[in-house]
Order: sequence, then structure tokens, then C-alpha cells
Amino acid sequence: MRTTESVEEVRELVAAARRDSRRIGCVPTMGALHRGHTNLIRSAVEDCQLVVVTLFVNSPQFDDPDDFHRYPRPLEDDLATCQELGVDVVFAPDDQTVYPPGGQTTIDVGPLGQIFEGHHRPDHFLGVATVVVKLLNITTPDVAYFGHKDFQQQLVIRRLCRDLHLPVEIVTCPTVRDPDGLALSSRNVLLASDQRIVATSLFRALERAEAGLNNGEGDLQAIRRKMRDELESTPGLDVDYATIVDAGTLEETDEVTKSMVAIVAGSVGGVRLIDNLPLNTESAPRP
Ligand code: PAJ
Repeated sequence: MRTTESVEEVRELVAAARRDSRRIGCVPTMGALHRGHTNLIRSAVEDCQLVVVTLFVNSPQFDDPDDFHRYPRPLEDDLATCQELGVDVVFAPDDQTVYPPGGQTTIDVGPLGQIFEGHHRPDHFLGVATVVVKLLNITTPDVAYFGHKDFQQQLVIRRLCRDLHLPVEIVTCPTVRDPDGLALSSRNVLLASDQRIVATSLFRALERAEAGLNNGEGDLQAIRRKMRDELESTPGLDVDYATIVDAGTLEETDEVTKSMVAIVAGSVGGVRLIDNLPLNTESAPRP
């Protein structure tokens, strides 16, 4: 495994692999790797002959400087994890490499980046989209892997790849959870044990949405209210949103559409958490 901070070295390694007609996969991460990340890396190692993992805590996508500073950065552990999984290249650049002085260009993904996460974290998706385009341009993969856990993020990235004609396939891998339902997140280590229990309410709200649709309830407003009730009755949880949206557009429709997803976000002790669950709308009544 090669670990490098250098754009040129990544380009050389990727160019050599491409000359050998190897399929190149990229897994962008901010490090502090957990089973959610390793699941993406495993998929990449299975599908590709050269796997590049990027480790970069991208400050422009953080709206809260505290959140950025306390973000975990266990570099040695992350490198050991990548080595164990058979990663070929780890690109762990510093800030100046990703953002050379004087840089001015950013990527604005439009309305999709302004709702939900974008509403609660202004400029978040500007930061995500800009760094993802940079990382994809540096690593030029055939395929890049993202998690369903950050549902709006993978939608934004799919949209920008389409809009900007980036020649990369986007694969979205399922959300990995702990047995109590809590979706794995690098921020979970910041939760005290009582806060962790509070956080499991997010998944219960998603399960309420799933149960509602599975029971054939067609009243989406009533199901949305049940989701909010679950979260609002949990002391210690500040709810940002809890709703059901169309999975392609993130629109909050009144009627059940072909593909829907329940999404939730909130904070526990100042730690912001998001989660979502794809909903099977086959059994739900249609207008
Ligand atoms: P990070 O939070 O490190 O996540 C890296 C990738 O792992 C993302 O695609 C995310 O959706 C996925 N992931 C995180 N937790 C997961 C879980 N429990 N199950 C499945 N996948 C999970 O997302 C980012 O970094 C950044 O925004 C990035 C795309 C790297 C741009 O800076």
C-alpha cells in the first residue's frame, strides 16, 4: 500500500494502473474509519483492481468550527485498516494541497444543496461538492463509492457528476448500523453512553415510517407526525427535521411515490446526527 500526500504521485499510480487496463475505484472519506467506511472499501476492493482511499477532513463543509476541530483524526489506525483491507493507495493530503493558495472556484449544486442538510448547514454542500470534484479529478476513478447513510450527499454527488459530465460511475452502498439501530458515524465516539441511548430514537422514528407504510397507511402527513412524536418525546434530542420524501427529488409529496425515503436529523449534546431509511412503497396504497 502506498500512502501519499502528493497529487502527482496519485496521478502516476493511477496512470500506471490505467495502462494495465485495471478498473480504478475511489472511496472518499474524512477518516476515523468505521464499519460503514470499511463496507465501502470492501466493495471497492471486490470490484476494482486499483483502490484509492482518500482521507481528508474538509474544513469548508463544516459550518461549526468546533465540529471541525473535534472531528476525530486517528491516522495511524486508519492506515492500518486500509492496509488490512487491501487498499492500494491512500491519498491523505494537507489543506494546501487540496486548496492551493489563491483558489477561488467552488461548485454550487443549486436547489438540491439548499434543502434539508443544506438548509440547516448553509454552504455544507458547496464544501462537499467542491472537494468531491477535486478528489475525483485527482484520482480519476472509473467508479466512486458513497454511503446511503448520507442520502442527500450521494444524490448531490450523482447530480453534479451528471451535470458536469464527469466520467465516473457512482455506487451507493447500504447504511451500516450498530445492533441497537444507530447508524455508524465518526461522530458517535463523541457521544456519552446516555447520549448514545438518546440517539437511538432517530432509528425508531425511521422504523415508525417504515411500519406506517408497511401497514398500508396512505396518509403521509399522519406518518410524518408519528416520526416527529417519537423524536420530540425523547428528552435530550433537538430535532432538525423528520419526514418522508421522494427518493429522487427529496420532495415532500402528499401522495406515495414509487420510491420514497424517510429522513431524520437532530442533535444530541451538540453532536449532530442524520439517518434515513429507504421505504418499500409496493404495499402502500397509491392514488
Ligand atoms: P465521511 O463522513 O468520512 O464518509 C465517507 C463515506 O462513508 C460517505 O460516502 C458516507 O456516506 C459513508 N458512510 C459513513 N457512515 C456510513 C454508514 N454508517 N454506513 C454506510 N456508509 C457510511 O461523507 C464524507 O465523509 C464527506 O462528506 C466526503 C464525501 C468524504 C467529502 O468530504
